Amino acid sequence: MSATTSIHGMWSTRLAFILAAAGSAVGLGNIWRFPYTAGEYGGGAFVLVYLLCVAAIGIPIMMAEILIGRRGRQSPINTMSSLARQEGKSQAWSLLGWMGIVSAFLILSFYSVIAGWTLAYVVRAAGGAFSGIDAAGSVALFGGLTGDAERLLAWHTIFMVLAVLVVARGVSSGLEQAVRWMMPALFILLLIMVGYAAQAGDVGAAARYLFAPDFGRLGDHVGEAILSAMGQAFFSLSLGMGAIMIYGSYLKSDASILQNTVIIAFLDTAVALLAGLAIFPIVFSHGLEPGSGPGLIFVTLPIAFGEMPGGSFFGALFFLLLVVAAWTSGISLLEPVVAWLVENRGFSRVRASVLAGAAVWLLGIACLLSLNQWSGYTLFGKGVLDLFDYLTANVLLPLGGILIAVFAGWVLPRRATEDELGMGGGMGFRLWRFLVRYVSPVAVALVLLNALGLLRGFGLG
Ligand code: PHE
Repeated sequence: MSATTSIHGMWSTRLAFILAAAGSAVGLGNIWRFPYTAGEYGGGAFVLVYLLCVAAIGIPIMMAEILIGRRGRQSPINTMSSLARQEGKSQAWSLLGWMGIVSAFLILSFYSVIAGWTLAYVVRAAGGAFSGIDAAGSVALFGGLTGDAERLLAWHTIFMVLAVLVVARGVSSGLEQAVRWMMPALFILLLIMVGYAAQAGDVGAAARYLFAPDFGRLGDHVGEAILSAMGQAFFSLSLGMGAIMIYGSYLKSDASILQNTVIIAFLDTAVALLAGLAIFPIVFSHGLEPGSGPGLIFVTLPIAFGEMPGGSFFGALFFLLLVVAAWTSGISLLEPVVAWLVENRGFSRVRASVLAGAAVWLLGIACLLSLNQWSGYTLFGKGVLDLFDYLTANVLLPLGGILIAVFAGWVLPRRATEDELGMGGGMGFRLWRFLVRYVSPVAVALVLLNALGLLRGFGLG
């Protein structure tokens, strides 16, 4: 039956798994994407919908993903096909793994470009570029970076090399060692930033903005806003593409999936909310626009650092930790592909990592050009980078999530999931099973169809 270890290695302790999975979850999604997306949809109501999605959809699906990964103990593609085979079900389930690989390529290609921005900002901060900067100066500084394709390419390349270096070293000497010190450091620095914002910024306005839901502010397209909140939950929790699945495949059989999931989801959510509390007080005290889009933190935070005593140091440290957060997520995006290349193509881990990294790097060039030289080319009104972002978070990850929920709830026998979760067959287990069988697939499908305008034909939208 199911193997007790993976050929790729295992997390040495439960803490190592939590750090790695939280490292995957906590990233640019929390500190860059969450605040600006919440800003685009007007704050509180979006945050509330987001929190509901994390609790009712994210947690059960994360449990399902870890469970499937641990039962299969291989790359997502092979895990899906061997578990389906065991149950006498179609091999087409391996398509879920393939879809995850496509998502991984698309996400990492733009993720690396944004991570490149954070690398560039480490250098800028350290060099004193923020000192005394005003809002207009900060906007100009940011524009100078995104408009410069060569510089973006250099930083994107450096980030991809960093990601490949860790993944090439393997599960315990690469991934595990990297997250061990990076995660605690990130948390401490974020708290320092929140402390600063509370004292220097308008924390009351920020708290009202984030926590007082005003559904009128979701805008004219409520369905689109709900889809974005749900997509943000998938993206932020790293769900629906196999990253959490493969990390689950390195988890020891006796670790509690429920407990680990709750801790990971809690950490991820806490970091997103703290990031909001670090950023919005500064946005409001400087009269900046919360809905200004992807440049939000790159424009607001430098102003704060520029006024702060020791701001060059703290600024450099903050962006460095953002690099680290992105790094621990980037490696989890690469890992499923690398594991598959090792299993099915017989590549060494090093060769697999370099090859996968190079492919993502190429795709990333299209993303970074869409910010400048190709800014005239759009599809559905979006450039390549925005399109990849939208398509993965709001379409591919939710679709992957539906399939994971259906597989865990309907394809795997009740016995198997009960054993794997080790919660007994009581209330908790029954609630989980109800959520993955009915609530998650139906809710995610409705939100998706509604936003794509497909319910209108049935008089529902
Ligand atoms: N969760 C990561 C973040 O919030 C991004 C990510 C998505 C990582 C999907 C892995 C898989 O930054």
